[in-house]
Amino acid sequence: MIKLLFPTPINISTLKEPTHLIYDEVGFLLNKGYTNKVISGVDGDRIDITNEFFEKENLTYIPTLLNNIQKNILSFCKDICIKPQYITESWININPTNSYNKRHCHPGSVISGTYYIKYPIDADSPICFYRSREFSDYGWTYAADRDVDELKSYYSHHPCENELIMFPSYLDHDVASNHSKDSRVSLAFNTSP
Ligand SMILES: [Fe+2]
Repeated sequence: MIKLLFPTPINISTLKEPTHLIYDEVGFLLNKGYTNKVISGVDGDRIDITNEFFEKENLTYIPTLLNNIQKNILSFCKDICIKPQYITESWININPTNSYNKRHCHPGSVISGTYYIKYPIDADSPICFYRSREFSDYGWTYAADRDVDELKSYYSHHPCENELIMFPSYLDHDVASNHSKDSRVSLAFNTSP
């Protein structure tokens, strides 16, 4: 009997959000100066979503998006048989040309995720998930004799606009450079019980 232990559930789905209207709200927040530098990113900007600006600013589409993402998180939790997880923090990443996110994971969270508000067609900027470093150190990267995702040391995914990706927060990932002249804009989140 062969048992495939410790599977890594990643959920990729397409939402039906009005991305252009969400993007307009991001532009409004940028104009108001709500930016910080991205912690794991290089040359990108970040807007932390806080209750304070929900109280101060009259936003419509970002709060609705967050509600819909929360519904998707609950359904993902149910599918993979874990207790309900709730968004504890969320932020918007604005990645202009040549900016990228270094390999990182999300300590203190159970499920993390990214929703793509804007993903230029020529961005060529996939998100890549990695197995543990031990997998590579012990030679498993080149041990597979066939090309299947289950035997790979990494999984690279080219996202598209309106896509929601959810994954276990312990899973290392990075984002390749944005090759487009337009910015890649996403909303990221962490969760807890
Ligand atoms: Fe991340």
